Amino acid sequence: MFKRISGTKDILPDEVSRWQKLESDARAVFSLYNFTEIRPPLLEDAALFNRSLGTATEIVQKQMFLIPNQEETYALRPEGTASVVRAFIENNLDKKGGLAKLYYLGPMFRKERPQKGRLRQFHHIGCEVIGGLSPELDAEVMSLAHHLLRVFGVSGYRIKLNSLGCAGDRQKLAFSLREKLSGRRQELCEDCVERLDANVLRILDCKNPGCRAIVDSLDSASTHLCPDCKKHYDGVKVCLGILSVPFEESPRLVRGLDYYTRTVFEITHDGLGAQDAVAAGGRYDTLVSELGGPSLGAIGFAFGVERVLLAAPGDASRASAQGVFVIPIGDEARQAAVRLLGELRCAGVSCDTEYQGRSLKGAMRLAHDQGARWAVIIGENELRSQTVMLKDLASGEQREIAAGQLVSHIRAGADAQSS
Ligand code: HAM
Repeated sequence: MFKRISGTKDILPDEVSRWQKLESDARAVFSLYNFTEIRPPLLEDAALFNRSLGTATEIVQKQMFLIPNQEETYALRPEGTASVVRAFIENNLDKKGGLAKLYYLGPMFRKERPQKGRLRQFHHIGCEVIGGLSPELDAEVMSLAHHLLRVFGVSGYRIKLNSLGCAGDRQKLAFSLREKLSGRRQELCEDCVERLDANVLRILDCKNPGCRAIVDSLDSASTHLCPDCKKHYDGVKVCLGILSVPFEESPRLVRGLDYYTRTVFEITHDGLGAQDAVAAGGRYDTLVSELGGPSLGAIGFAFGVERVLLAAPGDASRASAQGVFVIPIGDEARQAAVRLLGELRCAGVSCDTEYQGRSLKGAMRLAHDQGARWAVIIGENELRSQTVMLKDLASGEQREIAAGQLVSHIRAGADAQSS
């Protein structure tokens, strides 16, 4: 017996309707903001992620699924931003004029220790806007995330906001943090001792209580902003107010990927336990040029779909009954059923039948279980008179109708149901 790999999930037929609804709701909202979909491959050159996310980040150091291939190493993508930027540059999407507003849906892969809300194959619904620098755009992107969550039916979330500033501000912050923390090396957790040299900003959002207490006694990140970055940050906050997007400033928020500049945000939900971020994102104004493209500002975010589904209320209401269940009685009727199913499907009517030789009673039960709206029974009498017995499974009413009239009866019934 084979089992699925730990940290992966089968999305079973019972759950798949929630996924499909989330995906179609997301597509509808993205189109309101004039985004179009992009589908980059799941496999990329591992060097793309080393370069974009940073060699000192946990994802690059420990979490990538790598596939050696002759001289190169491929990676199953751990996130979407680097791939979208690579695709944007490689396909000259900047030459198509204006701003590129792109969204994507699909699996991401990280070799993490699996736990509730943390998988090795998980899914993102994300977006990237490449080509804009204005604070209004940051607010629009954040309000899009807020809009999506409301449409997904999630409530009780918190939007945390910070600005890391430009490269110079980050360097200043890193320098001053290193200075303040070097003398307290012994008090830091093992990971933060490593971070002190490799990625000192990550100490700011360490979850260890001891490290937290130390960090709480330090200056906040936004006090290191240069005048331009401060102006940008203030502009973002004003526009979020105009758009009525609730947010909390969170000066310790630094994010675990190196490409961020200026605005960063994370959306958390208290009902999720330790892995409480449903979405995260921010601005990355230097990444496009660092990957060989033009000098363009950019911003984006990604939702963890599994976490959104954990935070969203389950839809207990059964989908309204639809479709036809054809029940033949006897061998001759089986062939008539084959023809009828073909005709119904060509006419765009969803239908199914019974293939396992159940009794009429058993077949009727199956029709109910499958959520059919009508049962169509064909027996000897019906065959002789070229009729069918049409039973409305909601009301229990049944009547004999000409076989040739079935589609129009079904359509009329469906119209009456939807009006
Ligand atoms: P990220 O914070 O690494 O950002 O991931 C975004 C979201 O993906 C998280 O907030 C979380 O909901 C979900 N997530 C991450 N890891 C896992 C996991 N192992 N299992 C389940 N869900 C997970 C990014 O990936 C950036 N590319 C976001 C972005 C887009 N920034 C700018 N543009």
